[in-house]
Amino acid sequence: MNVDRIENDLFNYRFPEEEGFLYGFNLYALLSGKDVMLIDSAFRSQAKQVEKDLTSKGLILTHVLLTHFHPDHAAGLLALDRDITVLGSPEYKKTLTKDIPQTVTPVSFSDGFKFGEFNLSFTPAPGHSACSILIDINGKYLHAGDNIMSRYDGKAILPWVEFHELAKHIPSLEMLKEMSRDRVLLSHGPELPGEEDVTRAIDDRLCYLKTVLSSGGKCTFEEAVSGCSCDYVGKEFFEQLVAGSVN
Ligand SMILES: [Fe+2]
Repeated sequence: MNVDRIENDLFNYRFPEEEGFLYGFNLYALLSGKDVMLIDSAFRSQAKQVEKDLTSKGLILTHVLLTHFHPDHAAGLLALDRDITVLGSPEYKKTLTKDIPQTVTPVSFSDGFKFGEFNLSFTPAPGHSACSILIDINGKYLHAGDNIMSRYDGKAILPWVEFHELAKHIPSLEMLKEMSRDRVLLSHGPELPGEEDVTRAIDDRLCYLKTVLSSGGKCTFEEAVSGCSCDYVGKEFFEQLVAGSVN
């Protein structure tokens, strides 16, 4: 685990990929005095390590905000106190499969949420999951969750999406592109460095997703990625995606 200070009261707990794993994890920490809000909780192991580090610094984990409720983002809640305030999409029940000890407070897409000096606002971005959201932090950073995924060596990871959700994931990515943001934070992989890289990363994902959709899931992997500027890892996500097209 590495801890990077992004600015004043914003930190990134970074867990690079372990041997044999496709992706690592980012847990962003927002500080308000001694109180801490985490964005995502990863699995129990990562959540415990982060909480231990916060406690050793005299800080208190009070809030966890989830980009979405897949297990690699939400399962860490199982290791955390039941009194922690958990925030996420109003659609969280469509994705959450485990009984977590905390109660989920749905975020408001119109009012946002204030945490100390942080003004957070939320935009629904369904596709990767029904409850995926984009999180704006002070108008400066945009956390894109798993709409874009990469490894810490910069290698692009294929989008993960079920075939019947493809037609939702594409407009969510197009919306993200139109936001023209230059500091995009991810749950898996390093911050994208600048608007040009953000746009290229989104275009590559769109190219892949649109090719698979227009073929009805009948294209080969080579055809699906033929128009992309990057080399992807995570070919198993393609196989899972097209397998869903026959249902
Ligand atoms: Fe994820």
